[in-house]
Amino acid sequence: MGISPLYSDYSLASSDWSSVIANEMSHVERTLQSVIDSDIVTAFDLANQLLSSGGKRIRPSLLVLSALACDRCDLDQMAYLAAATELVHMASLVHDDVIDESSERRGAATAGDRFGNKISVLGGDYLLSKAFNLLCVHGSQEILQTLSSTAVRMTESEILQASDEGDLALWEADYWRIIDGKTADFMGSCCQCGALLAGADLATCKALRGYGTQLGLAFQIIDDVLDIAGDRSLTGKEIGADLMHGKFTLPVLLALRYSEDGSLRHRLSKGSFSISEAEEIAAIVVSSGGLNEAKSVAVNCAEEAVKHISGLQSSIYTEALTALAAFVISREG
Ligand code: IPE
Ligand code: IPE
Ligand code: MG
Ligand code: MG
Repeated sequence: MGISPLYSDYSLASSDWSSVIANEMSHVERTLQSVIDSDIVTAFDLANQLLSSGGKRIRPSLLVLSALACDRCDLDQMAYLAAATELVHMASLVHDDVIDESSERRGAATAGDRFGNKISVLGGDYLLSKAFNLLCVHGSQEILQTLSSTAVRMTESEILQASDEGDLALWEADYWRIIDGKTADFMGSCCQCGALLAGADLATCKALRGYGTQLGLAFQIIDDVLDIAGDRSLTGKEIGADLMHGKFTLPVLLALRYSEDGSLRHRLSKGSFSISEAEEIAAIVVSSGGLNEAKSVAVNCAEEAVKHISGLQSSIYTEALTALAAFVISREG
């Protein structure tokens, strides 16, 4: 996938976005380890296994980079709030894997597979409660409002997604709303909370939120691309799961435009698919050009993201945000 020339003026390689905040993220990691502690061994085990199996830590990194891009913040408070964003994310992953009946996450068995659905639903609730407890103790009213609105939107979008499963017409109508609510709004909020923590003015908060939202759209589109044509050893999750469950994502929706005889639409009307059927559909999506077009849409969103922060005071942190936008559209995992 080509990286837009927009990025070529910046000195950081896309893979370097995280090294800029390595120290701060070590602090976030220690904070995460300390806050997931519980005398209920199963609660701790569930959280700890997910935490220690990896993950890119994009949401807490967005909060940290945004706060540092605004030049002023309390490091301990930043670590608590960044940890809270990762806990909200982890909760959403645990619940999402129960809903999707997934068996692999971050290259390891899902909580559902290890602990069963009952404990996983409760475990997700535990992580979400921990997150909001941290936000109440360490965040301002505005930060709490921002992230709680995001949690509402994420849940609404997951409900919309689940109710649209298997229905192509509904996905055509709702795709952008779903990805905005489940991923982009959250990333925008993480950036906004970093700016709020740093006491930034309204224009800066808006610019960073705009960046995060567009980045999140690009991120989810690439996630959808990887579900069709990714490498399981790099994504750490099953490939083809979206199609099997009747989630018709952007590469599929764009492929429909090239299937003039209506054969793809007819095929998709079945609603859900076996692994081999999903592989056949994925091959059509790739050969029709739908996959590449979805990648181009993601590149456009990443470019829009960078435009949002072009007016901010340039620093190593704004460069890292730019590098992160390039990473998001070139990632394989
Ligand atoms: C997975 O997010 C869920 C989506 C929004 C697609 P990530 O790809 O950021 O998951 P981890 O944290 O790196 O495992
Ligand atoms: C992200 O979307 C859902 C969440 C908000 C957790 P996906 O359903 O595409 O996430 P993956 O592919 O299972 O990670
Ligand atoms: Mg899923
Ligand atoms: Mg996915």
